[in-house]
Amino acid sequence: MLSYQHGYHAGNPADVFKHTVLLTLLSAMQEKPNGIVLVDTHAGAARYRLDSEMALKTAEFRAGIEPLWARDDLSGPWQDYREAVRAVNPDGVLRVYPGSPLLMRGRLRKNDRLFLCELHPREQERLAECFANDRQVEVIAGDGYQALERILPPPGGRGLVMIDPSFEVKTELEIMTRALKTALRRFGHGVYLIWYPIIEGRDTTPDALPGALGLTDEQWLDLRVNFSPAQRLGRMTGCGMAVINCPWRARALLGPLTEQFAGLS
Ligand SMILES: C[S@@+](CC[C@H](N)C(=O)[O-])C[C@H]1O[C@@H](n2cnc3c(N)ncnc32)[C@H](O)[C@@H]1O
Repeated sequence: MLSYQHGYHAGNPADVFKHTVLLTLLSAMQEKPNGIVLVDTHAGAARYRLDSEMALKTAEFRAGIEPLWARDDLSGPWQDYREAVRAVNPDGVLRVYPGSPLLMRGRLRKNDRLFLCELHPREQERLAECFANDRQVEVIAGDGYQALERILPPPGGRGLVMIDPSFEVKTELEIMTRALKTALRRFGHGVYLIWYPIIEGRDTTPDALPGALGLTDEQWLDLRVNFSPAQRLGRMTGCGMAVINCPWRARALLGPLTEQFAGLS
């Protein structure tokens, strides 16, 4: 049984980087008017209270979203990201952190659709509550990797799949590789966004993925950041976002984010 709950980690430095990359990539894809099918294979609960016992127990958000909240020098993707967080805190006080499902929902156009997959029963319940009666969103209670076989290829030919596992199982990268092989066979030109942690003493980086999937250099973009001492999360010293089939326009916007992230702390 999985024990990870994102409520302990919401808004931490890894989320700041992950969600800024996600929104930047999505904005670039939405410069074209055609609808996009978005898939969050590991959705979590979508909405997190930062004044909850859970969030305060680890207080990871204090080195993540909190320092960004009041800064007056943000611009570009960082400002866009903070605006998205502000949208769920309309009175100007940082109390709620939006997970990837809410962030993506906030960006849906009428012709986009969002699939949210979650395995943990408690998180499923909260996710389903959050999107009850939302006709553009489908919540799938089950394995996100398996769900890809049903969802892909998307009818209009445009899709963004975000894969954001908790890396609780040692074989996560193997499971992911198998799922991506199948997904790419079904939807070879889809855009896939993969989050991974950098953990001391563990092999969690997806360096073998391009070889295993037969990707060309143009199909693979790996963005990696190291945390400052204040941002470190136990043995997690950084994280990365890898993109398969990154659109050219997005590549130009995403490239500078790693250096900019380092400048934020
Ligand atoms: C890191 S959290 C997701 C955070 C979320 N994507 C965000 O950015 O706000 C990972 C989630 O994946 C769920 N999970 C783990 N394995 C899964 C699987 N195979 N399929 C679907 N969900 C899974 C966990 O229960 C957890 O809620």
